[in-house]
Amino acid sequence: SAAQKDGYDWFMRKEIFEQPEAVANTLLGRFTEKGDLTLDEVRIPPEDLRRVNKIVIVACGTSFYAGLVAKYAIEHWTRVPCEVEIASEFRYRDPIIDPMTLVVTISQSGETADTLMAIRHAREQHAKVIAICNTNGATIPRESDAVIYTHAGPEIGVASTKGFLTQVMACYLLGLYLAQVRGMKYGDEIRAMMGELERMPGLIQQVLDDSQPVLDLAAQLKNRRSVLFLGRHVGYPVALEGALKLKELAYIHAEGFAAGELKHGPIALIEPGLPVFVVVPPRGRDQLHEKVVSNIQEIRARGAKTIVLAEEGDDVAERYADSFISLPPVSTLFQPLVATVALQLFACELATQMGHDVDQPRNLAKSVTVE
Ligand code: G6P
Repeated sequence: SAAQKDGYDWFMRKEIFEQPEAVANTLLGRFTEKGDLTLDEVRIPPEDLRRVNKIVIVACGTSFYAGLVAKYAIEHWTRVPCEVEIASEFRYRDPIIDPMTLVVTISQSGETADTLMAIRHAREQHAKVIAICNTNGATIPRESDAVIYTHAGPEIGVASTKGFLTQVMACYLLGLYLAQVRGMKYGDEIRAMMGELERMPGLIQQVLDDSQPVLDLAAQLKNRRSVLFLGRHVGYPVALEGALKLKELAYIHAEGFAAGELKHGPIALIEPGLPVFVVVPPRGRDQLHEKVVSNIQEIRARGAKTIVLAEEGDDVAERYADSFISLPPVSTLFQPLVATVALQLFACELATQMGHDVDQPRNLAKSVTVE
């Protein structure tokens, strides 16, 4: 009913706007007074976590993209190799897992059939399984060794929004926790990262407060046949998620690409007027920013309409933007928490303008409980 939507037109829009609070709830009670991270629910003995020599993340849909973001952070902080795999692919290829493998499964509902089968398979091989889940007592957390609940609150919209953001947050917490347990030497970096995580709810709120340009863009771009998304590093899974949201909600052909792959195919798709979203990493020590900006120049020279998501004040990226969506300044690894919000709003608004049922897109189910 309208009342439950708190005056919003869709549950999805309501859930997008709940994200600052949802992410704050994921963080709640995770830090001790000393500033250490505690994940009380992870009742796997620290010595077992220290022995882990491989991490495998399995999930489906949007949760899989949360896993792709997590890989960058977890490997960087823990130096443990981390693979991410679509749950439906996992068990059929006889994956190499053993008691030293930590399997992390991500599922908003905790009931996705393929994800459940994947963890059953992993536990048969004696791997430890940690579930990141939003639904208390669901089957997947019940069948796992440990669970980190995301505490996003019920998600009604079929397309996941606050589910995704809180999963990404929980993955960061897990990565930092593993680094802490394993006594990684760069303690200061870990501590700085924890401090920055606590500022994220406010920064996500800022994206929501400044969302008018995204809404205007949706009005301009409705009824397009195709939209592309480019990103690099953690911006790559953000591009994949931006494209998935457009498919799910607006039924538009949309694809996300790794920006570095542009010359290996995607650039052939560029034609005058094609909208291309580009997620630009913050200006930092590495050269990622420069490389992505040069990708924007390349596609713009071929007539693409460039929609650039970049840090506020990034006048270098803005120079080549037909539309500029400014994001609050954050560390590269945390940019998905702000960039994705803009893309969610875009997809929600575009689908609304096209007259689609945003909460119940055709042919989709909230939870896919059959293979
Ligand atoms: C369905 C939903 C998606 C969700 C995916 C995985 O496809 O429509 O929004 O990301 O299932 O669901 P899970 O509950 O396992 O995260």
